[in-house]
Amino acid sequence: MWKGVIDKYKDFLPVTGSTPIITLNEGNTPLIYAPHLSKCIDAVTPELFLKYEGLNPTGSFKDRGMTLAISKAIEEKSNAVICASTGNTSASAASYSARAKIKCVVLIPKGAIALGKLAQALIHGAQVIAVDGNFDDALNLVKEITDKYPIKLVNSINPYRIEGQKTGAFEICDQLEGKHPDFHAIPVGNAGNITAYWKGYKEYREKGLITGLPKMLGFQAEGAAPIVRGKVVKNPKTIATAIRIGNPASWKKAELARDESGGLIDMVSDKEILDAYKMLADREGVFVEPASSASVAGVLKLSKTGYFKKVHNPKIVCVLTGHGLKDPDRAIKSVKEPKVVPTNLQSVLKEIGY
Ligand code: F0G
Repeated sequence: MWKGVIDKYKDFLPVTGSTPIITLNEGNTPLIYAPHLSKCIDAVTPELFLKYEGLNPTGSFKDRGMTLAISKAIEEKSNAVICASTGNTSASAASYSARAKIKCVVLIPKGAIALGKLAQALIHGAQVIAVDGNFDDALNLVKEITDKYPIKLVNSINPYRIEGQKTGAFEICDQLEGKHPDFHAIPVGNAGNITAYWKGYKEYREKGLITGLPKMLGFQAEGAAPIVRGKVVKNPKTIATAIRIGNPASWKKAELARDESGGLIDMVSDKEILDAYKMLADREGVFVEPASSASVAGVLKLSKTGYFKKVHNPKIVCVLTGHGLKDPDRAIKSVKEPKVVPTNLQSVLKEIGY
């Protein structure tokens, strides 16, 4: 039986037999072949796969790191945790804290997190405080608080978060039956996840479980692309609220992942993000939140430059970080409202075209 990422990958994680494991059986998310997207890639027999992290218990990849961060917090006898969040970290922290029966405080940028995520943090009983600033401001406050008070920080600067999240890379290689992808595409916000995946791939290679490493392809939103632009963005702007971050905490580590792997970090426009979002939904049947589709938007953008042609039969994995239901407002804004017809068979049939 699948019992979550700590149970499955404990040999790679900083746990012992006496670590209390707080889990919701996260991980084991599907790696889905994408036939339509594969056809869109300009290369010889390309294969594109979607790592659908939206199917984790709270609907995002954050659960992989949160299971470890909360388990270690309990092992270290903490009774309260705190995070700043664009939404998903707060949803995950709130859920795992509820399970561990500890207090959870979350600081969110006012008016800038998707409705589903706010609902999650609240229903799990977290204390949600909205600050009149952006994510970067909220994270600075959280750092100051955790420096002075006995409350554990569970943002991705907590190394246990990165340790847990690296299991995503292990799973991809396991699902590819001992092979590594040639390219690993991922949205970049606070840059914890790209750091984690790169660490995971390197550890799997060190153990001889894969023979090579992918090139890491990170994608930021154009209005929130500090790493691409090489400077802090004071007022980050993008419809992909999850990655609306102007000063990523793991900035240097993301650059290291890019450079060691021979990959790149680029940016995509909100239009490219939304086009990929719709394409994933109506051509692949996979519903994600906008930030997640940045990985696909980035791959499509790169493909147009002939980037993937260098490799024969390239295997590309795009991480889809969060579920589409997280941001129902964006989904509704992206489609036509349903048509209202009179309640009779004739009107309905006419509408269908029979
Ligand atoms: N995709 C989604 C859906 C996210 O929620 C995040 C980050 C990212 C991508 C980027 O990952 O920060 O590790 O580079 N969300 C954080 C949060 C910041 O607070 O939920 P990253």
